[in-house]
Amino acid sequence: MAVQPISADELAQLPAVYRDDVESLLISAEQIEHRLDELATEVDADYAGKDLLLIGVLKGAIFAMADVARRITVPAAMDFMAVSSYGSSTTSSGVVRILKDLDTEIQDRHVLIIEDIVDSGLTLHYLMKNLRSRRPASLEVLSLLTKPSRREVDLDIRYTGFEVPDVFVVGYGLDFAERYRGLRSIVTLRPEVYSDS
Ligand code: IMP
Repeated sequence: MAVQPISADELAQLPAVYRDDVESLLISAEQIEHRLDELATEVDADYAGKDLLLIGVLKGAIFAMADVARRITVPAAMDFMAVSSYGSSTTSSGVVRILKDLDTEIQDRHVLIIEDIVDSGLTLHYLMKNLRSRRPASLEVLSLLTKPSRREVDLDIRYTGFEVPDVFVVGYGLDFAERYRGLRSIVTLRPEVYSDS
């Protein structure tokens, strides 16, 4: 997956307000939709007859959560957690604070965490350790994106949407300074955007 300058056609499809900021289109909305169809089919097969609980990690996973939940046909409950990682705006430290905990008990339930991106893996590593201590029947992860080259801890991600290179990406729930979450595709930003903020 290469970071190439965005074409005029691709640019024209983005909301006007974001056009000046985008450097490259990494994954189109259509590619995301197609991949989510495939992943939902796998989830359906794996969780047939099981009591499934989807846990979305706020805020980045909101669209992945909504789109997976609407694609799967096995009955699933939904809950959310919000975590914040102490670190700079673009890297994580692994020290995680729970800002919003689950509303439900997960003991003996089949839990599928829905994530936007696994970068160093430190946030997810902490989250999984925390959730595992609550004794779910199973605990798996679906992440739209993964950056394997950045991984600092070993993690087993059962369902992965796309592997991306070591670049900062936004869109489809992912933000930079709370912007760009609403973009339907995954893009990279021009360097000026970071230096201006
Ligand atoms: P990790 O702990 O390094 O795996 O980072 C996890 C969190 O950092 C993700 O859930 C995102 O919120 C954020 N993050 C990591 N990489 C990116 C990126 O490329 N764009 C936007 N947010 C990112």
